[in-house]
Amino acid sequence: GRDSGKAQAALSFSEIPHGLDHRHHLPEGYRADILLRWGDPLHPGEGDFDPAGLSAETQAKRFGYNNDFIAFMPLDSAAGPGENARHLASGNSRRGLLCVNHEYTQPHLMFPGYRDEASATRSVSAEHVAIEQAACGHAITEVEKTADGWQPVLQSPYNRRITLATPMLIVGPAAGDQRLRTRDDPTGTRVSGTVGNCAGGKTPWGTVLIAEEGFGGAFQGDPDNIADPVEALNHHHFGISAGNRNWGEHDSRFDIEHEPQEPNRFGWMVELDPYDPASTPRKLTSLGRFQHEGFTLVCKPGQPVVAYGGDDDEHQFVYRFVSRHSYLPGRDQHNRALLLDGTLFAGQFNDDGSGRWLPLAFGHGPLTPENGFRNQADVLIDARRAAALLGATPMDRPEDVETNPVNDCTYVMLTKNKRRTTADAANPRPKNATGHVVEIVPPGAYGRRDHASATFQWNTFLLGGNPNAEDPRLRGAYGQQSPGAISAHGWFANPDNVAFDPRGNMWVATDGCEDFGFHDGLWAMATEGELRAAPRHFFGCPQGAEVCGPEFTPDGSTLFVSVQHPADARHSTFDKPLHRWPDNDTKKAALPPRPSVLAIYRADGKPVGS
Ligand code: FEO
Ligand code: CA
Ligand code: CA
Ligand code: CA
Repeated sequence: GRDSGKAQAALSFSEIPHGLDHRHHLPEGYRADILLRWGDPLHPGEGDFDPAGLSAETQAKRFGYNNDFIAFMPLDSAAGPGENARHLASGNSRRGLLCVNHEYTQPHLMFPGYRDEASATRSVSAEHVAIEQAACGHAITEVEKTADGWQPVLQSPYNRRITLATPMLIVGPAAGDQRLRTRDDPTGTRVSGTVGNCAGGKTPWGTVLIAEEGFGGAFQGDPDNIADPVEALNHHHFGISAGNRNWGEHDSRFDIEHEPQEPNRFGWMVELDPYDPASTPRKLTSLGRFQHEGFTLVCKPGQPVVAYGGDDDEHQFVYRFVSRHSYLPGRDQHNRALLLDGTLFAGQFNDDGSGRWLPLAFGHGPLTPENGFRNQADVLIDARRAAALLGATPMDRPEDVETNPVNDCTYVMLTKNKRRTTADAANPRPKNATGHVVEIVPPGAYGRRDHASATFQWNTFLLGGNPNAEDPRLRGAYGQQSPGAISAHGWFANPDNVAFDPRGNMWVATDGCEDFGFHDGLWAMATEGELRAAPRHFFGCPQGAEVCGPEFTPDGSTLFVSVQHPADARHSTFDKPLHRWPDNDTKKAALPPRPSVLAIYRADGKPVGS
């Protein structure tokens, strides 16, 4: 069971209405600074963004495309590079490193000359491919709150872009395995860059975890032309097909018929150290290979690190990692090895509200050579197949999975699954178009739960959709303890990312509300008390965009959000975009729509939402 905690301090902002237009929307009394836009320079002397003058070289020194996950890592003025513990301990909420994922590119909105949707996802030249590869990955930018609001600090030594050209190491149990070796890397331990960087997480030793989600879209080639049937099935699993975008035509490592094992070097979680600009990011094979949305940590002194993550695809699974060794605050060298050694589990959500974590361990149950697993590397590389064989519960596209630091329960955003035919208790609606949120309750008391336990209880926290919808498959359910607690604008669909403010309120970012006639945005709600699961609408984004990466400063006074793919709509191209947010430029050589990060705060400086 679940012992409910105390009611959380009420959210008192004035709710905004559902709407759909070319602007972003905030409650009264709030300000949003447009902090970083695609193409903004990250170093002095780079000059303003000029889409006509873009090259791979300049893009690699600028903010990338389709910003997603955000981590705010505080900076202590008295500490230097590598002094992670001092930076974190400062709790500085006015100066820090903004660590932002750049998930994917949309060449038809980035480059002139794309005529129609048929060509929209195809790059026409090697130069386009090189620019796109420099626009993906991650950006680390020092930011500070000045009298004029939040600003990037261009002269900062920490500013850095991570792209598909950034050298990385492959570490953990699968490193060096024969299935990770290629022409460029006969060792199976070194890889160039990262792609599909969706959401992520942070560690208390001052590193950032970034996910590799939809990496299959970067590859082309027909899996059925691959001789090894295990590898062919593996590539099919990740949507690699002959019809994909044509990076492979200009960069042969993205052609699986040329380099059939290169995709095995993507689909991992990547750990990077933003406080050390010379550090080499590492792909952590211990966390398995699938379409990672992100991984978020629960770290308690003297206990194993527990990390939760989702595989964002229809009928895929929720995962949990438990480290072999314990987290010891301040012992950074020790802690930096924790995510390399431990056990990955997949979640089984039973109809009676109980749950079990099933270990992805070679030799356990069906994970044997008879089923095509040679060793632990195979189990991790083919984690999806292993989890399915173990009997994990196929879910409705698990996006963010994150733990509320106040009540210590873990929340799973299940965005939708229109292909579901058979409902179960944890995925209760066939053809789920609106998504839902599941609450995991590990054993133990409020605020002190055992996340390393083999079992858990779970509840349906809310069902997305309009609570008054006639069709029960689309009908939402909120605020069960206080029916009627939400306004006509309080409902949403398609939960994707989630954050918790310092008071334990849940902030959900959506991806898909335009299917229901209004903008994507943010909805905030309590997780305890009478107003549990009763959302209020806080932020709305411009048409075509989804909202990602909500992230609070340590004191909760600023909320950073990513507005991803603005003006993404039918027939919307660089030459004729649906709109030109955020610059809204009307000059002759007008700027295109630009994915951007906003810094949101109250004019009076009090915590966001209070
Ligand atoms: Fe990239 Fe699962 O959203
Ligand atoms: Ca996304
Ligand atoms: Ca997402
Ligand atoms: Ca999504």
